Amino acid sequence: MKIGVYPGSFDPFTIGHLEVLKSAAGLFDIVYVAVLNNTAKSPVFGVEERMEMIRRVIETEAFENVRAGSFNGLLVDYAQSIDAQYIIRGLRAITDFEYEFQIDAVNRHLKPEIRTVYFMATPAHSFLSSSSVREIGEWGGSIEGLVPHCNTDYIRERLARQK
Ligand code: PNS
Repeated sequence: MKIGVYPGSFDPFTIGHLEVLKSAAGLFDIVYVAVLNNTAKSPVFGVEERMEMIRRVIETEAFENVRAGSFNGLLVDYAQSIDAQYIIRGLRAITDFEYEFQIDAVNRHLKPEIRTVYFMATPAHSFLSSSSVREIGEWGGSIEGLVPHCNTDYIRERLARQK
């Protein structure tokens, strides 16, 4: 059984994340979308809130092999605890590559048997990030089409209150 873990801050989960998840769900038997539960990163959305939005996406998209999870500590330890042999990450631009190159080196140093696979974003999504969604939403701009439709209203209202 091929099990993958798709980790991230997902603050919030965007349509770029959804694109990666769709590809991964088609390739792996089970995919865990794992929200980093690390208060040092000061996320805007709480871990439960982020997981709830991911669960809503799983339900709306009718993904049968996708689960929502959360972790703190080392990603490779979490991956091992759920028997995942693969880490899944998305790549948008060359700047992502440098960051991913570094994370991969650390993870492979810790557990060489766990490999990371990457999905390139379509050019239309290459500009998109959770931080741009947060900024647009906090200033009252439209986030329509940037986050999964099932979460748009929730994120819009939540970010408007944040300001
Ligand atoms: O969405 P992000 O913030 O780019 O995701 C980063 C993430 C969660 C993949 C990374 O910060 C991570 O794996 N953190 C857990 C701690 C860890 O395992 N560190 C070693 C690799 S740098």
